[in-house]
Amino acid sequence: MSLTRDVRYPVVMSVEQGLVTAQHYRYIAERTGGEDVFLEELRRDALAAEIPAISIGPIQASFIQILLRTAAAKEVVEIGTLAGYSAISMARALPDDGRVRTIDIEPKHARFAEEKIAASDVAGKVEVHVGPGVEVLNTFDEDSADAAFIDADKGGYPAYLEECVRIVRKGGLIMVDNAFAFGQLFYEDPTDPEVAAVRAFNDTLAADGRVQGIIVPFGDGMWVGSVG
Ligand SMILES: C[S@@+](CC[C@H](N)C(=O)[O-])C[C@H]1O[C@@H](n2cnc3c(N)ncnc32)[C@H](O)[C@@H]1O
Repeated sequence: MSLTRDVRYPVVMSVEQGLVTAQHYRYIAERTGGEDVFLEELRRDALAAEIPAISIGPIQASFIQILLRTAAAKEVVEIGTLAGYSAISMARALPDDGRVRTIDIEPKHARFAEEKIAASDVAGKVEVHVGPGVEVLNTFDEDSADAAFIDADKGGYPAYLEECVRIVRKGGLIMVDNAFAFGQLFYEDPTDPEVAAVRAFNDTLAADGRVQGIIVPFGDGMWVGSVG
């Protein structure tokens, strides 16, 4: 038996036996730091302000923080601010002189996030930029970030990836949310109009020689990649 087969066999078995189930997710959640009162309140206030409840959850936030700390990240770029949940979470994992530059096309989202950021423990560490993702990214310098988190309109993902490869330094991190297309990745007739864009993007990133990436299977699936 070849070495490759030896190594791959147990992995395939684990997947086929349904290693990652809803029960496993609950088990992980019970053993992962939850969200503090500030972020709980942010979620509630965002709902009350009719901002969609589509931010990342506490498990994903915790994982992203670990990745950022491990990468000793100081400068992070985010496309898709929404209510500021992920931006605040990421800023908390940065050193005192760290910065998150986060972009959103919706002025209402950007305003809400700015207010929350100003009231948070990371006020001064997050800049909110209002405008279309690509246009704003175009204004950021090459090699000016250690990490990027792409979490906006799926049709824009290929262009965001191009920009992030330019902006994130070599060896830096690129994280991309919703690789499982809102749970509809394998649907024959998906109802969400963005599923095709997610599928196409997943194939694009998998074939992109500049980024070594893997989809981490929690939340809605998140690409974690390193710029080569
Ligand atoms: C999934 S939400 C972001 C959630 C946020 N990252 C979090 O976890 O807290 C996606 C956001 O992308 C924004 N967006 C959509 N199209 C955009 C575009 N072309 N440029 C910039 N932002 C965009 C939306 O307004 C929305 O607030």
